[in-house]
Order: sequence, then structure tokens, then C-alpha cells
Amino acid sequence: MDVTVIGCGYVGLVTGTCLAAIGHTVRGVEKDPAKLKTLQDGHCPIFEPGLQELMQENYASGQLQFTGDVKSAVKDAEVVFLCVGTPPKADGTVDMSFLEGAGKEVCDALAANNNEYMVTIIVKSTVPPGTNRRLYNFLREQTKAHVQVVSNPEFLKEGTAVDDCLRPDRIVIGGESPEAFRMMRRLYDPLVKREENFMTMNWESAELTKYAANSMLAARISFMNEMTILCEHYGADIEDIRKGIGSDNRIGPAFLKAGCGYGGSCFPKDVAAMEHISKAAGHESLFVHAVQTVNKNQKKRFVDKIECKLGRPLAGATIAVWGLAFKADTDDIRESSALDVIKYLLERGAHVKAHDYKGMENMKQVFKDSVEWCGDPVTAAAGADAVALVTDWPQYTTLPFRKISATMNTPIIFDGRNCLHRDVMRESGFQYYPMGRPAVENKLRLKTRA
Ligand SMILES: NC(=O)c1ccc[n+]([C@@H]2O[C@H](COP(=O)([O-])OP(=O)(O)OC[C@H]3O[C@@H](n4cnc5c(N)ncnc54)[C@H](O)[C@@H]3O)[C@@H](O)[C@H]2O)c1
Repeated sequence: MDVTVIGCGYVGLVTGTCLAAIGHTVRGVEKDPAKLKTLQDGHCPIFEPGLQELMQENYASGQLQFTGDVKSAVKDAEVVFLCVGTPPKADGTVDMSFLEGAGKEVCDALAANNNEYMVTIIVKSTVPPGTNRRLYNFLREQTKAHVQVVSNPEFLKEGTAVDDCLRPDRIVIGGESPEAFRMMRRLYDPLVKREENFMTMNWESAELTKYAANSMLAARISFMNEMTILCEHYGADIEDIRKGIGSDNRIGPAFLKAGCGYGGSCFPKDVAAMEHISKAAGHESLFVHAVQTVNKNQKKRFVDKIECKLGRPLAGATIAVWGLAFKADTDDIRESSALDVIKYLLERGAHVKAHDYKGMENMKQVFKDSVEWCGDPVTAAAGADAVALVTDWPQYTTLPFRKISATMNTPIIFDGRNCLHRDVMRESGFQYYPMGRPAVENKLRLKTRA
């Protein structure tokens, strides 16, 4: 099929590339000139495992093209995906300006279009309930083109986005038109492994499914994070509790890992949006409010713990921060826990040495010269009073810890992701403080500062 994708960010580029890989002809439209040039030069502007190779393969074969011109891109399209950002405004409500802008551009392009056939506009962006219905009414008023609108919320996870897109758990389609549903079923045919995983519903149900999914997942994390407080107080181990409850079929094991808070471009903004969506319905959602408060507090609690266990004010202390991306296998730092952790450390007067495998360039734009940027984790830890591990890059688990502990001022690690091995920490001479797990308290080897 002839597919146009408006917005070539994390979702649009992955979607467009995967649709090209299963045989559709895809034109990606990107309005950011720097990003567009990178794409047209055949490079991938984001880090996402497997994406660059798949993108380049399909770009080279002509199956995937990139342009800045909406009009020409929409001309022959049977389906047009809207994959633009819907970031949070300062008050937590959804900024709809990108979606409205893209919707208007598509509408203008369709007006100049004399084609008889139906064009299906697919809203992949996460949008509050009512948006798709409004877009449909707007397009029907503004253009004579035969147009349908469907909501198709995206559930991919950064870090495994290509696989998630090619092997989706389910495909959710919201709309009113059986004709558009059939079009969507045809579009996704190679990806539909079981018929029950292709779900059709009305617009509002599809829109709310996305917010409900992210709020539920964030709630599980916040619940486990709150449990770490009890674990640390009573001497329990959150990992044992995770196994103990995750093996219950009614609960399941996913998204029960405790840590120093969730981040990313989706959970924080979607949970915040859910609170406003509830307010707009005249209902105050105590539940999602609590999920957010626990998450916010967990990041601060992590820094409080560093200060408390160091046994001295953070002013003048050097803290190495390992991990800046909001999770491993991505360069995305949007709403990353590292943003808050570094902010709190700097506010309290600490000197921060930071490292990440992919997210450093993005984080440099935020903290500039107020942080010392290190090319590797060993250099970051050298001379530090403590390491704060914030992102669970697997590479951090296999570092030369004995060597690292010898170069630190005080060999202390705060493991905000519970990903290091306590025996290795003990044997390497570290004081080790995970989240909600028993600590390793070796005798400290203090060094005099030069
Ligand atoms: N990132 C994720 O993991 C994820 C997962 C599921 C759903 N979502 C949702 O998908 C949507 C997109 O998220 P994202 O992370 O891909 O955002 P993004 O910011 O990475 O990408 C959006 C892209 O759209 C471009 N753009 C904006 N207006 C445009 C226009 N009029 N024409 C052409 N290009 C335009 C921007 O320049 C940008 O490159 C959001 O609603 C988000 O909530 C994201």
C-alpha cells in the first residue's frame, strides 16, 4: 500500500521503516530540516537497536523515502499516519499544537487532491479522548476528499521498538467506519498473528486504552518503588517480593522492577495527562495523582539516601552519575530520572561527573558546563566520593570493579536500578546501596584528598 508518515521521530521512523520492511511503499515527512537532511543522507537520527540497518536497507531499495513536502507526500497516499509529538505543557495538559498543525497541513494537501479513492488518516500520536472525532469532523468540513480517521495508539517501547513494531502484542484500532477498519486490517496483515490481537473499537476507547496502559504500567512501578521504603525499614528484599508476587498469574512479572523512578517521553506525560483528562470529566483522580507523587519522591529519596549514607553534606562531594538515558538501549533523555537526580545533586552543591553510552550528547544540551562529562564510567568514578547508577545499561554490570574501587575517594555505589551483583560489590570492596534490598557495608577505605 501507499503509506505516508508525518513526523519521523521515535514512533514515526520506526513505524515507517517497519511498514516498508513488510512491503509497503512509505514516504516519511519530517519538518525539522536537520533531521530531514540526516534521513535523506541515509543516516538514522536516533539510536534504536536494529533501526539504522533496517532503515538503510529500505531507503537504498527505494521502499522508504523522506521529504519535507506534505503535499507531494500525501498525493498518492492510501493511508496517512500522524506521528507527531504530543508533549506536556507546563501545567501537565497535552500540547496539541503539533498534531493540529499536521492535521491542517494534511487537510490542505487533501484539498488539492482530486483523487476519488478513500484516504485513511491514522492518528498514532497519543491524544486525549475526543481528538480523533474532532479531527474527523474538521476534515469533513474542510475538504471534499473521501477521508476516514482512525485512532491507532502505539505501544512500542524504546530500546526494543523495531521488534515491538514487527511483533506487536496487539493492534488497537479506534473508529466508526467498517471500510477504514478493513483498510487497517489489510495494512497490518503481515503483522497480525492471531485475529483476536487485531482489535477494533470506537475512537474514545482506543484513545483511552493508550492512557490506561501507560498509567497501569507506571502504577506498578510506583507501587514497587513505594515498597522499597518498607523493605529498607523492615530488612526485606524487594527482589524476593517481586518474584513472590510476579509468579501469581493474576499479577504477572512485568513492570515490577523497583528503582529510582520511571522516566521517558511517555509515562510521565501520559500519567499527567490522565489526571487532566479526569479533571475535564469532572473527576479528581487520586490514583494517578499518587502514582506521580511516588515517582517524584523516589528520585529525591535516592539523592537523600546518597547524602545520608555518605554521612556528610553533598556540598563539595564528587558524585559520579552512571547513566543518563531514561532506560538502557536508547539515547532518549526525555523526563529521565537522571535529569532530576543531577539537578538535586547540583542544587546541594555536589560536583557531578557523568557518563552514558548513548545519551550524553542530549544531556549536554541540558546541563552544559555545570557537569563534568566523562567518556567512560571508570574515568567518571575516579576520585569520586560515590557512584550513583541511574540507567541499567548492561555494560555497567561487567566493569572492572576492583580497579574502580581503588581509584575512588570512597568506594560507595548507590544502585538506582538494582542491576549490580552484591557479591561482586562486596568482593570489590564497595559499600553498596541498592533500592529496597539489603546493603553491603564493607569497611570504607578513605583516601586523603590531594
Ligand atoms: N517515543 C515512544 O516511545 C512512544 C511510544 C508510544 C507512543 N508515543 C507517542 O507517539 C507520538 C510521537 O512520539 P515520538 O517519541 O515519536 O516524538 P518525537 O518528538 O520523537 O517525533 C515527532 C517528530 O515529528 C516531527 N514533526 C512535528 N510536526 C510535524 C509536521 N507538521 N510535519 C512533519 N513532521 C513533524 C518532529 O520534528 C519530530 O521529528 C507522541 O504522541 C507520543 O506520546 C511515543
